[in-house]
Amino acid sequence: MPKFAMTFVCTDCGGESLRWAGQCPHCQAWNTLQEFQVRKAAGGKARQSQAGTGARPVPLTELAGDAAPRRALAWGELNRVLGGGIVPGSLVLVGGEPGVGKSTLLMHAAQQIAAHGGHVLYASGEESPHQVRMRAERLGAMEPGILLFAENDLDAICDAIRSEAPQLAIIDSIQTVTDAGFEGSAGSVTQVRESAARLMRLAKEIGVPIFLVGHVTKDGSIAGPRVLEHIVDTVLYLEGDRRQELRVLRAMKNRFGSAEEIGVFAMGEAGLEEVPDPSSALLSQATTRSPGTAIVAALEGTRPLLIEIQSLVNRNENTMVRRIANGVDVNRLHMLVAVLEKRAGLKLGKSDVFVNVAGGIRITEPAADLGLALSILSNERNVPLPDGMVVIGELGLAGEVRRVGQLERRLMEAARHGLTRALIPAGVKTGRPSGLEVIEVRTLAEAISAAFPSPIESGAFIKEAGISVS
Ligand SMILES: Nc1ncnc2c1ncn2[C@@H]1O[C@H](COP(=O)(O)OP(=O)(O)O)[C@@H](O)[C@H]1O
Ligand SMILES: [Mg+2]
Ligand SMILES: [Zn+2]
Repeated sequence: MPKFAMTFVCTDCGGESLRWAGQCPHCQAWNTLQEFQVRKAAGGKARQSQAGTGARPVPLTELAGDAAPRRALAWGELNRVLGGGIVPGSLVLVGGEPGVGKSTLLMHAAQQIAAHGGHVLYASGEESPHQVRMRAERLGAMEPGILLFAENDLDAICDAIRSEAPQLAIIDSIQTVTDAGFEGSAGSVTQVRESAARLMRLAKEIGVPIFLVGHVTKDGSIAGPRVLEHIVDTVLYLEGDRRQELRVLRAMKNRFGSAEEIGVFAMGEAGLEEVPDPSSALLSQATTRSPGTAIVAALEGTRPLLIEIQSLVNRNENTMVRRIANGVDVNRLHMLVAVLEKRAGLKLGKSDVFVNVAGGIRITEPAADLGLALSILSNERNVPLPDGMVVIGELGLAGEVRRVGQLERRLMEAARHGLTRALIPAGVKTGRPSGLEVIEVRTLAEAISAAFPSPIESGAFIKEAGISVS
């Protein structure tokens, strides 16, 4: 008989605690700790080995090379995030908020495998076969190679995966699956974790790749995808504003590739479409020459992206001022506001500052700092940045513009999309694409003079702040 030990796991962040508490000590969320049974094999022996029988140490040189090649899908955007395609025997978690498009994305993937003669087992515990069929029709994914299995019971799902041995198995969602061998209802930390661990062993044993859907929920009674992050091989999150069409699939962990990559898609009536040139899609929405708008070149994985940042600065005499950031870290915004106040003499203490990144994209890189700072300044002064300008650079607390990696790739992307001017950190030896005027800046003050060349626009408030521009 296995023994059970108890810990508590946060349904939000997956952090473990030995005692129950009202607030998670890891992420400070309230009422998210849930009992979790740790199974211990009798006699203190560790959990059964992964693939089970007959394993022995093997010399590295005798191991087969890339025996099972990755299965590439029709979408390059999806392959890139996966690290080049689907690895046989891998367990991949696709997380995201309800309605963002996880089932849609995986149905497209299923279609792409089935269209090339493969077959896919789609286990749906979430929607009825009728609903899944309606989606498949809408997406143009009516393929005989896609087998739909409306089932919540893990034993039945595992048996079906074994007997069908599909090229891909999809579990939509892991929060609706239950393993009869464990207590707790579907979606509890115990059920979600143990089911995923079992699917991991199965995937490795028979070499079938398994994709799990995991909903991000704010409801503490259902375990979110973060609870599974350390169990699975690859964690992908699908992000995006549901009211806008762009969706970003972001690798957060990948045992088979870079965990920095993103894939970009657009959601429409007929499902998702890949967006191989996201800069174009993002810039086409750009409202140039409007005060508060700046274009930055952020590196997402191996790919530079031109992204439009908008800021709105509003006087607010009455209530507490607000700092709201969509698509950038709000703490980064607080820091940049402080740097602007101290180093550019901007007075934002009685102003709300709203920041929005176009297309629902989330910027995770400090290389957008300078662009964000200039967009705030531009809106506050009601003076637009020059047409066709891209702003690249990290800002330090002393107002210094810091170097960023892969500058040349960012400049190339800007030139390729017809931008004509770039503000960049000084002192980086890099190739300069033709057609792009490059202006090197060392400090925020220098960047301000370069971006707002008219003396009334820049000189006035630099003098006001007592900063020397040298
Ligand atoms: N005609 C449509 N019916 C349903 N959903 C649609 C339709 N057209 C577009 N969609 C998009 O599909 C989304 C639902 O995607 P879905 O894959 O079910 O999300 P998830 O599985 O992440 O909950 C909707 O939020 C909407 O953006
Ligand atoms: Mg779904
Ligand atoms: Zn937590």
